[in-house]
Amino acid sequence: MENKWLEFQPPKASNWANSVDLMFNVITLLTVVFTLLVAVMLLYCIVKYRRGKVADRSNPVDDHQVIEAIWTGLPLILSLGIFFWSTAVYVKMRNMPDHAYEAFVVGKQWMWHIQHPNGIRENNELTVPIGQPVKLTMISQDVIHAFYIPAFRMQYHVIPGRYTSMWFTPTKTGEFHLFCNMLCGVQHSEMIGKVNVLSPAEFAKWMEKAGNRFKPTATTVAEKGKQLYEDMKCNTCHVDRDIENGPTLYGIFGANRATNVGNVVADEDYLRESLINPYNKLTKGYGNTMPVYKYKEAINEEQIRQLIEYMKTLGASQGAKR
Ligand code: CUA
Repeated sequence: MENKWLEFQPPKASNWANSVDLMFNVITLLTVVFTLLVAVMLLYCIVKYRRGKVADRSNPVDDHQVIEAIWTGLPLILSLGIFFWSTAVYVKMRNMPDHAYEAFVVGKQWMWHIQHPNGIRENNELTVPIGQPVKLTMISQDVIHAFYIPAFRMQYHVIPGRYTSMWFTPTKTGEFHLFCNMLCGVQHSEMIGKVNVLSPAEFAKWMEKAGNRFKPTATTVAEKGKQLYEDMKCNTCHVDRDIENGPTLYGIFGANRATNVGNVVADEDYLRESLINPYNKLTKGYGNTMPVYKYKEAINEEQIRQLIEYMKTLGASQGAKR
């Protein structure tokens, strides 16, 4: 039986929970110990040397190198220890695993849009399998938000104009709170939801059921991107090789690109920027010819994500500019 009154902390439901809690408890314990130590010594002196009390006041100690070395050295060692310890945890948190299940998050005033790679969408809900690393790739389409799952001891900023990511491995099935943890406007406190952690079998079942809701249009994010690529006529200028109208996007993801502002790596942020501000970094040899798609009017974050996922699937370029 778990005693509710003794639950100081949310349930521990991810791979991070134990290390974060241990650190939190140790820092709290150190704070309490040192606060009590100082308070007790202070009270002792207040009582012992209070006015009118007979006490030996000759030879006051105003220089004691051993005591000074202890009260300088001990906190130094402790705080450096906490620094290196927490840095080690932080570095692990910020290093994304290679083979994680990836879901895409768009934050906006005041809700969360989730998109799974196979095209299934959720609002204010994130369904993930237990025991598998999950990576979230996130962006905001207005102000700064923060994706926060207390039971996972995990949070990261969701900001406009740049992709951020976080990862975790759920270790407990069930429903957990999801909060926006950055004041983002009048309905910030309503920007909440839940995370459903399912067993692998239940997750597969859920996928199938959720997928049926979208039929007959259920397609993967990359397939939606391909459709969009054709609907928006991207394919008139961007074909399988460089042509007069535009450079090829085949093999572009992760490639080094020569642009008018120097070499850049075509990562997600670059592809996104070039979709909505194509003239910022022009591919060498091309001018300001691409039409600008007005952000949020002609193209939104979900569509940008779909196009990027499609570009990732494109094979190598079929040759140089003719
Ligand atoms: Cu979004 Cu607070």
